[in-house]
Amino acid sequence: MGSKRAMLGNGLGDVLDGMIARHNRFIDLFTGSASVAWHVAQHYPIKTLAFDLQSYSTVLAAAILQRNSPVYPDQIWNDWYSRALIQFESFSAPLSSEVDVAFVDKARAWGSEFDENCLIHAYAGHYYSPVQAAWIQALRNTVPAISPNREVCLAALVMAASKCAAAPGHTAQPFQPTETAIKYLQISWQRDFCADLYAALTLIAPLHARVVGEAHVGDANEVASRLRTGDLAFIDPPYSAVQYSRFYHVLEAISVGSTSPVFGVGRYPPLNERPSSQYSQRTTSLRATEDLLNTLASRGVSAIITFPDHECSNGMDAKMIKDVARGLFKIKTHSVSSIFSTLGGAATKKTGSRLARLKADEMILCLEPK
Ligand SMILES: C[S@@+](CC[C@H](N)C(=O)[O-])C[C@H]1O[C@@H](n2cnc3c(N)ncnc32)[C@H](O)[C@@H]1O
Repeated sequence: MGSKRAMLGNGLGDVLDGMIARHNRFIDLFTGSASVAWHVAQHYPIKTLAFDLQSYSTVLAAAILQRNSPVYPDQIWNDWYSRALIQFESFSAPLSSEVDVAFVDKARAWGSEFDENCLIHAYAGHYYSPVQAAWIQALRNTVPAISPNREVCLAALVMAASKCAAAPGHTAQPFQPTETAIKYLQISWQRDFCADLYAALTLIAPLHARVVGEAHVGDANEVASRLRTGDLAFIDPPYSAVQYSRFYHVLEAISVGSTSPVFGVGRYPPLNERPSSQYSQRTTSLRATEDLLNTLASRGVSAIITFPDHECSNGMDAKMIKDVARGLFKIKTHSVSSIFSTLGGAATKKTGSRLARLKADEMILCLEPK
């Protein structure tokens, strides 16, 4: 999962600290892994709201934003595990200490016997071993019904699923049982899913917001039209010309609990069911940014924007955003160095290659109503 976590200790944390006290609400409009929303909600007595087109992001955000006291992981886990175990055993997942081509075939054949909307059918033998997929399905089917335990458990499930996925970085495509990649498949498939889940649960359980907030699926531009004076929006929009849903569709299906029939090596649901962002298209990214900043300015909303300072694959760079903001807001500019994922975006003149992770400067723009 991509993240602004590192930047919080490298300039962004100080910028937030300087602006939050003057505002009544903090709104993370592109929350992603929710690292910024988690940080603000935990450290400041301010209502924090988080939005994203992808529901897995809001699942992560909700686990901390939507409660102001800790939960106790052992009780939650023991109850959840015993409910899930009954289902897990009923799935009779095949097991093997050796991951070879024959076992991958067997795993896929076993998964294909299940209903084609279920997680086992979609991912067993691909992103997950049969045992991992059976646990994911059983745990998702038996997730607690009542808040806040439900949100905490869903987030832990997404985090463990991200950790165990047999894919290089993002879940665009799983490792295949080829001579060179089978060792990576074996490493991922041998992870103990329940141990990763329990670790995630114990990490999240003690963390909570100081003021109860909210997390919702939503389009940033539409959400912006409902904000008001006194709000501080955090804007970390996509910079890649490849849709985020291409990389996070597995986590998305797990957070929702099912998927439409998947296809291709990447096991994607149909394209028209994957969230699509105007910010991830070269032809619409500038227009979407202009509309967003115009809306925020017209509503007297302050904003912090982060963006790489070189041309990105969606055609945008920080200077273009600054040019849009100049006529609308009072601006303060900070620059920090950062490492970010290209998310498979095409090379640009400046980056020159398809490196998965790049070192680059990133600009932080602080915008206040004129
Ligand atoms: C650069 S990432 C944000 C990373 C995040 N700040 C973090 O720390 O992980 C951009 C996010 O914006 C989301 N997104 C794209 N277009 C959106 C839109 N129109 N409205 C809301 N979210 C959007 C993507 O799904 C993705 O999660």
